[in-house]
Amino acid sequence: MTSQFKRFHSLRRTSGIREMLSETRLSARDLMLPIFIKEDITSPVAVKSMPGVFQHSTESAIAEIEEAYSLGIRSVLLFGIPRHKDPHGTGAWNPQGGVQTVIKLTKSKRPEMVIFADCCLCEYTTNGHCGIMTTRGLDNDATLDCLKKIAFSYANAGADFIAPSGMMDGAVQAIRNSLDDSRHPGVGIMAYSAKYASALYGPFRDAAGSSHQFKGDRKGHQLNPTQSREAILETLTDIAEGADIVMVKPGMFYLDMVSRIRDLVHQPIAVYQVSGEYSMIKLAGEKRIANEADLMLESLISMKRAGADIIITYAAKEVLRFLN
Ligand code: PBG
Ligand code: ZN
Repeated sequence: MTSQFKRFHSLRRTSGIREMLSETRLSARDLMLPIFIKEDITSPVAVKSMPGVFQHSTESAIAEIEEAYSLGIRSVLLFGIPRHKDPHGTGAWNPQGGVQTVIKLTKSKRPEMVIFADCCLCEYTTNGHCGIMTTRGLDNDATLDCLKKIAFSYANAGADFIAPSGMMDGAVQAIRNSLDDSRHPGVGIMAYSAKYASALYGPFRDAAGSSHQFKGDRKGHQLNPTQSREAILETLTDIAEGADIVMVKPGMFYLDMVSRIRDLVHQPIAVYQVSGEYSMIKLAGEKRIANEADLMLESLISMKRAGADIIITYAAKEVLRFLN
């Protein structure tokens, strides 16, 4: 007699069959590599809490971008660490700054490389806050004035996308207006729309040199991990303000939001596998808790399965070596 038995093993029997039927694939063009550019160094400095990640000099950053290009990566996200910090983070809009210099050099050498430039103050302010601090807390509007100057300066250098990462209210609109008014209407904005106040950012703050004097937290402007509807509101607001690409960050604890936002909007979605996620996977590999390559690939494929168009990951280069 025929029965309605469960029958799936034919779909999974060989690696050829499994590959043929893969709904989700990962390739070089999905990945964006973050790069830290430090102004006062001449050779790369290892970031202790992020195995395999370095702060780069202008020169080594260019070499890093070339290597990424040769592996098939076509987008990078640049962060700068200035020679001098001050309360207003003025180093961020220095036309001769590290990020600006690397943008110009990359665009003259590798114009096809798509350059995203981080637009925040925390790497440039003495206190490590993402905005201008006053005795009454963050001054949102004063911060927007600085973000406009930073965006303008990156656009002048040749950036393709500005990436405001500070979750300041109105940042996308302020930057959009500033780009349009300064005749950079083609420069896009990748908005950190659903950015949560996460415990996973610690290693980044070492890499970005923003942890030294930082006191307090970012819970007043980043999303509370308890919130999902608020993340959707933030995303829709950023889109209304002119965001071209929206982001969910961190990745692995927040893939429910990727999937919900995927169903709601038609903009490309970027997912950021943040520093803490990256380092946890690296350390699990080092401690032989799991196979590092398998763990990393599984983590990235889960982001694509959830609906990500772009994955920002410090592991971009090594993942392509695993894949090839
Ligand atoms: C700062 C910024 C952070 C990250 C990107 N931009 C940290 C923070 O908000 O404290 C985190 C990235 C990572 O952890 O890899 N605006
Ligand atoms: Zn910041």
